[in-house]
Amino acid sequence: MKKNIESQEDVTLLVHTFYAKVRENKLLGPVFNNVIKDWPSHLKLLVSFWESNLFFERKYFGNPMHAHIEVDKKVKGIINELYFETWLTLWNETIDELFEGETAEIAKNRAKNMAFFLNKNIFDARNHQPQ
Ligand code: HEM
Repeated sequence: MKKNIESQEDVTLLVHTFYAKVRENKLLGPVFNNVIKDWPSHLKLLVSFWESNLFFERKYFGNPMHAHIEVDKKVKGIINELYFETWLTLWNETIDELFEGETAEIAKNRAKNMAFFLNKNIFDARNHQPQ
């Protein structure tokens, strides 16, 4: 039987396994590998993000909305729904491979909600750029 997500070690395994897949992915890999210069720091940040998100620990204080608008600018506005769908498919796949239970389902739902708002914010930011 698979276990629930319940510790920093679990989140670390999830985040590391997920980003290994992202880096290999034909669509997402080039975006991440272009923008992220320091993978160990990124992975650490994302572990703290998911710990804060799933366990209500105050470890992450960043602004993902702003970060993704900047990412979209760096890759010249190519990010669209397909990128988010691919991201979510890999995220859900990784969770299902490694974990099951309530927190695993919450992690899938939170990512889905956040992907929706990130996508919307990127789109809105693009449409408010001066021509
Ligand atoms: C199309 C899908 C996505 C792409 C291409 C993408 C790409 C990136 C990249 C390149 C960074 C690094 C930014 C930098 O260091 O300058 C980043 C940061 C981050 N991403 Fe994503 N991302 C995607 C979806 C998501 C989703 C769905 C979530 C959450 C569920 C998420 C959460 C985060 C967080 C928390 C950070 C750290 C922001 C900070 O600097 O504080 N991303 N993303």
